[in-house]
Amino acid sequence: MGQRSVKRPEIIIVTGAGGVGKTTLSAGIAAVVAQRPARTLVITVDPARRLADALGIAMRDSTTNRPTPVPNAGPLDAVMLDVTASWEAITRRHATPEVADRLTDNQYFRAVADRFPAAQSYAAGEQVAEFAQSGNWDVLVVDTPPAEGGIEFFMAPRRMRELVGGRLLRWLTGARIPGRRMFYRTAARPMLRLADSLLGSALLEEIADFLLDLRTLYDGLAARAAAIDRLFGQAKVLVATTDSPGAMREAGRFFSSLPEINTAPDALIFNRTLPDRWITARGPKGTEAEDIALRENMARWSIEARRNRDARQEVAARLAVPMATVPWLRQPPTDISSLADLITRASGLDTILESAE
Ligand SMILES: Nc1ncnc2c1ncn2[C@@H]1O[C@H](COP(=O)(O)OP(=O)(O)O)[C@@H](O)[C@H]1O
Ligand SMILES: [Mg+2]
Repeated sequence: MGQRSVKRPEIIIVTGAGGVGKTTLSAGIAAVVAQRPARTLVITVDPARRLADALGIAMRDSTTNRPTPVPNAGPLDAVMLDVTASWEAITRRHATPEVADRLTDNQYFRAVADRFPAAQSYAAGEQVAEFAQSGNWDVLVVDTPPAEGGIEFFMAPRRMRELVGGRLLRWLTGARIPGRRMFYRTAARPMLRLADSLLGSALLEEIADFLLDLRTLYDGLAARAAAIDRLFGQAKVLVATTDSPGAMREAGRFFSSLPEINTAPDALIFNRTLPDRWITARGPKGTEAEDIALRENMARWSIEARRNRDARQEVAARLAVPMATVPWLRQPPTDISSLADLITRASGLDTILESAE
């Protein structure tokens, strides 16, 4: 029994282009997995209002990054990631309190944390690692930020390491921080101050402070980034797509970036699948206006259904990985039971989800 809490959780990462249903699928998968039963946490980045309500997440809550129980969903918790708050936590974890205070007050640091996609993805990854290490959950279901069709999320630990420990920053700040800081205090800072006074702002000095402080994060960040990389390497990765050409392209790009991301996708989820029987359905034969409208409608949907099937066949043939199909529901699922229902009605997904056990 005691072993249960130290067991590494199973991690399921749902990735793919924006709008393909990542957040919906993550919530649905989490709802189904929790019924095993398993202590499950769904980690989401950008839930739509109604989905957030179903998950019991208050959108603007001071308790961001703190998981809360999902109402009526068994042992299921949910959390919405706040990357800015995550960066504050990361800074406090890896820097001295003095440096952390200065960094979080620095406008360049805040700009990077807020707007830089790699920084957002990295913050999400580090937060996932925190939850994984807590021992509080058996399964984590991770909804990824939509940057670069999900690739960014997997690249972020390495990119972060390169940024903070990389050549540019070393060149700017010196290989040995203490010596360089001394040099900076005695020689560089007065120069920057002079330049700043000519420019009429504390721009250069603040940038230099930022870069030096960022360098001190390197050791902690590098170790953590390597741990996140290992975690991602063990995770089950599900790439979601729809029949939209853009989404299919992104999914393909994910597969062709594999050499760089050390993570092999375990399955493709084809969301918003139309029934094949619609391809040949013709509608009523009558001559009433209603019948004619229905026939026209069916004819249009027949074309869509064929396109949908062709896209599924094409992508299945191109990407050698198990594929699950999820039906296109008339009503977008926004409560826990319809989210779980969506996943239960999927075909091929149960084997993909079970095979990890
Ligand atoms: N299988 C489905 N059937 C019907 N609507 C869906 C389905 N999957 C997703 N949706 C809807 O599509 C929209 C985008 O889904 P979302 O999960 O937010 O995508 P993403 O997180 O990839 O941007 C939402 O309105 C969602 O309710
Ligand atoms: Mg989303």
